Amino acid sequence: MGDATWWQRGVIYHVYPRSFMDGDGDGVGDLPGLLGRLDHLTWLGVDALWLSPVHPSPMADFGYDVSDYLDVDPVFGTLEDLDRLLAAAHGRGLRMLLDWVPNHTSDRHPWFQESRSSREDPRRDWYVWRDPGPGGGPPNNWLRYIGDSAWGWDERTGQYYYRVFLDSQPDLNWRNPGVQEAMFDTLRFWLARGVDGFRIDALPSLVEDERLRDNPPNPDYRPGVDLPYLRQLPVWNNDQPETRELAARMRKVVDEFGDDRVLLGELVLPMEQTVAYYGPDGGGIQVPFNFELVSGAWDARSIAGYVDRYLAALPAGGWPNWVLGNHDSPRVASRVGPAQARVAAMLLLTLPGTPILYYGDELGLTDVPIPAEQARDPIARLVPGRGRDPARTPMPWDGGLGAGFTSGRPWLPVGEANRPLSVAAQRDDPGSMLTLHRRLLRLRRQAPALAGGGYEPVEADGDVLAYLRTGPGERWLVALNLGPHPARLAVPGLEPTGRVAAATDPARQDRPVAGELRLAGDESVVVALG
Ligand code: NOJ
Repeated sequence: MGDATWWQRGVIYHVYPRSFMDGDGDGVGDLPGLLGRLDHLTWLGVDALWLSPVHPSPMADFGYDVSDYLDVDPVFGTLEDLDRLLAAAHGRGLRMLLDWVPNHTSDRHPWFQESRSSREDPRRDWYVWRDPGPGGGPPNNWLRYIGDSAWGWDERTGQYYYRVFLDSQPDLNWRNPGVQEAMFDTLRFWLARGVDGFRIDALPSLVEDERLRDNPPNPDYRPGVDLPYLRQLPVWNNDQPETRELAARMRKVVDEFGDDRVLLGELVLPMEQTVAYYGPDGGGIQVPFNFELVSGAWDARSIAGYVDRYLAALPAGGWPNWVLGNHDSPRVASRVGPAQARVAAMLLLTLPGTPILYYGDELGLTDVPIPAEQARDPIARLVPGRGRDPARTPMPWDGGLGAGFTSGRPWLPVGEANRPLSVAAQRDDPGSMLTLHRRLLRLRRQAPALAGGGYEPVEADGDVLAYLRTGPGERWLVALNLGPHPARLAVPGLEPTGRVAAATDPARQDRPVAGELRLAGDESVVVALG
């Protein structure tokens, strides 16, 4: 583990910049605000921050609709602010990653403006344009994220353009070499400024079947449960072989700048397809996101089974990773409840591999109900019940009117339930969620085996999930009770004797453990075995 790189040992903290800290009082978080709060990250003990997009954007999808890849949107600050933030992060020993949105641009991007201007425009082929199908409708049956046709009609030039997200997010044509080079150059621009890597947005959507073959129906589709686009199997417009090749080329671009820059990839795919993005011989994305803790069932046996299957599916040298929350999903504390959110934190920070921690989850923030008329996320309108605002609300820093986030009116409400969970309220409370995170993060730093050591499942039943993390001179037992009832861990051949190094119940901290291990409902411990 001595030679593991920073992103293998470290914990990556995901910042949604609009909601982290507002420096200028306009109610929207920005880069100077974030710079002023960097000490929170070093105090907490994370290693890197990844920022959701900060580039110029009409904000139809709050930055995931980029109109200029090489600048900073004025709502977040300036290019100089970004340089200052990067220098300040590096000065504190933090790495910094940007979000890169290669699948689509904003319709306001000059490339699309040119492309849609006429069929003869030299940039026409930079996007995916097609004539209507034989019956006069869309060229084929592909669906976009919100469940209707993935083809948008352009009256002026009499063709359809392909877009998997909003009308204002046209897909780039990644089969065009000009697109490839221009987009690779946007990576180089930021790498040359010192950025430590990128999270790649919507990676599997990059390339579409050249013959536009129709997708088959999904026999397992659950109406009302699954997102509407899932009624098809996206066989021909998702995870194409060319996309995997492009991922390897992105990696080569990043490697031009040394061997310690990293690519994280957003891959909403079955596990076997996700792990293919490590690439042959590890030449692909280093961190293809593993979303099982976000989307899978929350019970001990399901998680134990998944962890085993995932670790077994990793290619040689493939480094595991775990995502627990993000700006597209309900907050973990709302999904599993506040008590289990503590268990989830311990799981995230003790499983083998790189944890990705979403801002505010260290406080146990819950989803903030946003009335339909106040919704900001376009998805709230387009797919009722699926709006993402509730998990994107401002970080509560203190008990002030603007929760220490803004001196103005926050762009989304802080939420009455989240106000008492502020950093100031939790910082010195030995029993708080924040203290639990800090303790676990400190333990990871002191205990190389927790970050990168061996992993051995321990046989357990019912609601208990248990495993060992081992390394030279280190042996840790992690025991998690995923249910509300007291449980006992009886492990043949393993006599847990040792000391509690981290516990969801602070009263248990540093207490000796001998013989069998008893856990209260929703309780979890990390035991240093003697
Ligand atoms: C995934 C991002 O995480 C999400 O927020 C965004 O809306 C889509 N990709 C489109 O860029």
